[in-house]
Amino acid sequence: MAHPDLALWKQGWRANQIPFHLTHVHPLLAKYWSMLGLASDARVFVPLCGKILDLMWLHKRGHDVVGIELSPVAVRDFFKAAHLLPRHNCQGDLTRWTQERLAIYCGEFLALTRDELLGVSAVYDRAALTALPESLRAGYVSHLHAILPGGCLVLLMTIEDLDDDEEAADNMSSAENILSLYCAHFSIELLHAEYHEAMVDRAGEPTDPRCIHKVYRLQHSTSAPNEATP
Ligand SMILES: C[S@@+](CC[C@H](N)C(=O)[O-])C[C@H]1O[C@@H](n2cnc3c(N)ncnc32)[C@H](O)[C@@H]1O
Repeated sequence: MAHPDLALWKQGWRANQIPFHLTHVHPLLAKYWSMLGLASDARVFVPLCGKILDLMWLHKRGHDVVGIELSPVAVRDFFKAAHLLPRHNCQGDLTRWTQERLAIYCGEFLALTRDELLGVSAVYDRAALTALPESLRAGYVSHLHAILPGGCLVLLMTIEDLDDDEEAADNMSSAENILSLYCAHFSIELLHAEYHEAMVDRAGEPTDPRCIHKVYRLQHSTSAPNEATP
């Protein structure tokens, strides 16, 4: 995934240009997490986690939480806001920041291996797949398949923009691109689809297009990935 975008993400964090960051727990996480039916101490993976407050929400429910994030600024800010003093240690190309049941690997997602995700039973993907350019999404899903334990569940949130000529009512089912990205190694169930009108700023200039917010429940195939993969 070596890509100019990586430098841009790091630069955005250094300049505090992080419009995706929410100052509250995502309401659809609180609404749909229980539909995964996990034990409260289940181990949960949060890819491309930024400093999302949802990490602490999962942790407070009893989960052992493991994230990965490129930017050390994001990781530092997350622990600081949570009033935690993590330990750091280098593991290959990654730096592991950890305290109690929280660990964030700082570095590139593709450097993460199956060893770091041993025992993970669920993934929470909010703005991870969808943060990547379309050309990198198949590689992201293929790496997830390679490193996740078999049977692992995924709560995947997407925001699917509508073109001007598209009707919302025709787009309330699972998106074709999600089906094609995941269908080889995951079962896919759409839990939620909610239409949002376009947003404009005070001057009436468009800020966000019409879109549909969706929540998917995926399940990783139970057969173990090929031993030759990471
Ligand atoms: C759209 S943000 C979402 C962050 C978080 N999931 C949230 O909802 O607030 C995407 C994050 O992925 C990180 N990122 C982008 N590419 C990455 C990569 N290849 N490996 C690890 N992190 C990456 C960026 O630094 C950024 O914090």
